[in-house]
Amino acid sequence: MSEQVSRRAMLRGAAVAGVGLGVAGTTGIEAAAEAPPARGRTMIGEPFRATDAPRFGIIGLGNRGGGMLPLLLAIPGAKVTALCDIRPEFAQRAARTVTEAGQPEPAVYTGGDDDYENLCARDDVDFVYIATPWEWHTPMALTAMRNGKHVGVECPIGLTLRDLWELVDTSERTRRHCIQLENCCYGQNELRALRMAHDGKFGELLHGSGAYLHDLRELLFSKTYYEDQWRRRFHTKIDGDLYPTHGLGPVGAYMDLHRGDRFSHMTSMSTPALALAEYRAEHMPPGDETWRERYVKGDVTMSLIQTAKGRVIHLAHGVSSPHPYSRLNHLAGTKGVFEDYPPRIYLEPDMSGHEWGSFDDYASYDHWLWTDVGPGPGGHGGMDYLMLYRLVQCMRLGLPPDIDVYDSAAWNAPFPLSVLSIRHRGASIPFPDFTRGRWRTPHPGTDSEKPA
Ligand SMILES: NC(=O)c1ccc[n+]([C@@H]2O[C@H](COP(=O)([O-])OP(=O)(O)OC[C@H]3O[C@@H](n4cnc5c(N)ncnc54)[C@H](O)[C@@H]3O)[C@@H](O)[C@H]2O)c1
Repeated sequence: MSEQVSRRAMLRGAAVAGVGLGVAGTTGIEAAAEAPPARGRTMIGEPFRATDAPRFGIIGLGNRGGGMLPLLLAIPGAKVTALCDIRPEFAQRAARTVTEAGQPEPAVYTGGDDDYENLCARDDVDFVYIATPWEWHTPMALTAMRNGKHVGVECPIGLTLRDLWELVDTSERTRRHCIQLENCCYGQNELRALRMAHDGKFGELLHGSGAYLHDLRELLFSKTYYEDQWRRRFHTKIDGDLYPTHGLGPVGAYMDLHRGDRFSHMTSMSTPALALAEYRAEHMPPGDETWRERYVKGDVTMSLIQTAKGRVIHLAHGVSSPHPYSRLNHLAGTKGVFEDYPPRIYLEPDMSGHEWGSFDDYASYDHWLWTDVGPGPGGHGGMDYLMLYRLVQCMRLGLPPDIDVYDSAAWNAPFPLSVLSIRHRGASIPFPDFTRGRWRTPHPGTDSEKPA
């Protein structure tokens, strides 16, 4: 066990040590935009091969994986055939959930840090779902694709630009999808605002905001919530936006990311890192192991991203200081503005006098997933279920997924790019173009048509 813990610690150290590195392995700012040569065809628009009963393997059955399992089991057609966790009791508990849902006993892998490789090698798995600590996401996703499986990864999909390019390359070479499972793209307000944006209600789009503002202090210091307290340790290693995709996924969709626009460059700054040490002083006993830690991740990281069309996105990340939950979720154009938390809207010509109006008045724009399917059981008001429902639907019908490897890589790039920008006093860092020039290609995304 101690050998495994030290391997985990090594992986965690190696993963964060490389954050900010360009493809060329330098910390040069221009290197951030470098693209390695393509080794396979584009995955844009690539359909799944239609599979009536897609078979899932899940790696990581802690808070997230354990919570998503019953939702997956509730989706017509979805089968769960294999489970893996280094904590045998979590995997066994999940196996009982599968059999209680009336499905055959799944294969269970609990043989240590690398046993996930055996799950990935199975013949009866079509899609691997990864819900482990961040440092495992890229190696696990690569292993899944190299074994011929499609893969869906919890946020973030990769920590370095090298990770992100390797995921793109491997997806193109193996012809397997690699999807950031970004549930927030399926929120009711996000999908309604998306459909309104596509209908021109906001006019020409100008700017938007997205964020992950979630006070996690109590969970970060809990001895039992995160396995081996992995999440707090990131705050001792790097300063940057550690969780960009909840905010950026939906705003990217509003702005037709890779369907007509792309992220061009970004600049980031962080506040001082004070709040975790303050929390520790108030809540942790003298001599606790946390007293050996020094927190370097600024309490709030703010970034500005400009797109190729000149639009501006404000991105924020803060999990260590008091803040009611918010993803900001704001969009503005030449005809009006929407902002969330709580939702409100101002649109011309529908409104005048500079008074906010009700977003409920635009319920007719709700996405078909919300009117005809959702919200469904559990999870973040329904968006978790709808994300999985849509994924399974695309696999069953042989459609391309709403979210591809290019979207996933671009939403995650602010993790390393913000680290690099902060290291260079807020310098402007160019975004890599993960599509290799295909970002103007119209193709379906989360604003999907309801299949016949
Ligand atoms: N999308 C969302 O809304 C949302 C919500 C919560 C968490 N998450 C994400 O889900 C992921 C997991 O978070 P969590 O809160 O469930 O953490 P957790 O610590 O509760 O769960 C991680 C699980 O992975 C297992 N694990 C660790 N190393 C492993 C290995 N080598 N092989 C197999 N299993 C291994 C652990 O034993 C643990 O059960 C993170 O990426 C987190 O950011 C996303």
